[in-house]
Amino acid sequence: MRPVDVATTTDIPAGMRKRVSIDGTKILLVNLDGQYYAVADRCPHMGGSLYEGKLEGNLIVCPNHGAAFDLTTGQNVRPARVLFFNKRPPDATSYRVEIKGTRVLVWFE
Ligand code: FES
Repeated sequence: MRPVDVATTTDIPAGMRKRVSIDGTKILLVNLDGQYYAVADRCPHMGGSLYEGKLEGNLIVCPNHGAAFDLTTGQNVRPARVLFFNKRPPDATSYRVEIKGTRVLVWFE
């Protein structure tokens, strides 16, 4: 794992998000009340973009089938719904975020 400098804190005001790419992997960065969190911008259900999802508190809701993930842990907290069926996807990949001064670093493999 190594820290990768991906943004400045002013790039992502509270309640806002940014999509960054590290070695071709897209990552969603979110500022929740001054705390920064990073998860893969790929829903583990069927690959929807979590960046394009809806923020509900500390949850991000996938725009495709509604699965919700806790941004602080990546944990799936609401299943995907396709037609009449609920399916619980795996947790989203989450990354450790470190703030150094005004720089936002994401720890990446
Ligand atoms: S692709 Fe995200 S819930 Fe289906």
